[in-house]
Parts: sequence; structure tokens; C-alpha cells
Amino acid sequence: MKFFIDTANLSEIQEAYDLGVLDGVTTNPSLMAKEGITGEENIKNHYKAICDIVDNNVSAEVISTDLAGMLKEGRELAALDEKIVVKIPMIKDGIKAIKQFASEGIRTNCTLIFSAGQALLAAKAGASYVSPFIGRLDDVSQDGLLLIEQIVGIYDNYGYDTEVLAASVRHTMHLIHCAEIGAHVSTCPLKVITGLLKHPLTDSGLEKFLADYNKGNK
Ligand code: G3P
Repeated sequence: MKFFIDTANLSEIQEAYDLGVLDGVTTNPSLMAKEGITGEENIKNHYKAICDIVDNNVSAEVISTDLAGMLKEGRELAALDEKIVVKIPMIKDGIKAIKQFASEGIRTNCTLIFSAGQALLAAKAGASYVSPFIGRLDDVSQDGLLLIEQIVGIYDNYGYDTEVLAASVRHTMHLIHCAEIGAHVSTCPLKVITGLLKHPLTDSGLEKFLADYNKGNK
């Protein structure tokens, strides 16, 4: 399973990268705004700074909602660095843009996926990744993990290369369940990745091992 971090915060990206388990980064306009990054040039420079930290897979989202705008913006973003994956919203022109980008060899991440039908369309158009938002489905009493399972099953049936990127992952159990049901990627905040480290029996066990070592080596 690939681990992506869902943030535009450079120090959090660096911390996850330094752990040695980070495969990519996802951002969106809200995450950029949270870091105070505004304006086209600043946003592009920020994507370049993210690309300088990680090895691959940096999702950069277009703002346009029409085909011509998405193609122009997406090509500009892709030209920033070969690590960029152009993030396209799940709308009619988005599907057309994904199809065109696939023919140009530009990788895409189709975002704001909330149904299996949307995921099927994105895969048929040639998306590299689809991002179902599981936390936001849970927020409205729909089972986000069930959607991940459905999409993984559909893609397996037909051998689609599109990878299921579980997004809006809110806690460690979301991540564990995503791994159990075969999501190819999970993108989550740093605290979810570091949360996997924690177990009180590890802490108390280590404390005891060290205390016993120190007793025997006095
Ligand atoms: O990856 C999408 C993510 O940024 C949305 O997360 O927590 O705002 O639903 P959230």
C-alpha cells in the first residue's frame, strides 16, 4: 500500500518523508489556503518546494472547471516537475480532460469521488488515481469504506490500472480498513501515519527491556 500525506505543510511533509515510508503528497485548494499560500505564482512555487522534498506523486489541483481551462492549467502544473500528478474534479469536462491528459502521458488524480459510477467513469477515461473521500461520506451517514471496497472490486473485475486512493482518511482505523480491503493508496494527515506507531504495550515492553538490561550491566 502506498502512503501519501494529505497536507501542504512543508515541515509535516519533511517529517513523513524522513520516516522513510512516504510515497507521495496530496494537496487541494483548502489545504493550500490553510498554509496561507495564495496567488498562482506562490502556489506553483509551493508545489516545486514539495517536489524538492519527496520522490514522486505530488497531486496539484486545477481550479478551472471548463475543459480548455483545465487542459491549460494541468499542462502548466505538469511542466513544473515530472513528479506532479494533475488533480481534476469529477465533472463532465474533468472526464474529458483526464482522457486527453492520458493520451499526452500526463498522470491524473480524479478527485471528489463519492460513488462507484464516478470511479468507473474516471477509470475508463484513463485516470491514474481516483480519490474517494471516505471521511466525508461517513460524515453524512454513508459508509466510506464500503465505497472503497466496491471500487476495488470493480477495478479488479476488469483489470483497470487506475489506483484507488482513499482520501479524507481521518484516523488510523480508516487506514487499517483501507489496507484490509485493498485500497492501493491512502492519503492522510501526518497524525494518522504517526498514529500507527503507537501502542502502550510497546512502550511498557521497551521500558522493561531497558530496565532489565541496565540491572544486569551495572
Ligand atoms: O484528501 C481529501 C481531503 O483533503 C479531504 O479531507 O478531512 O477535509 O474531508 P477532509
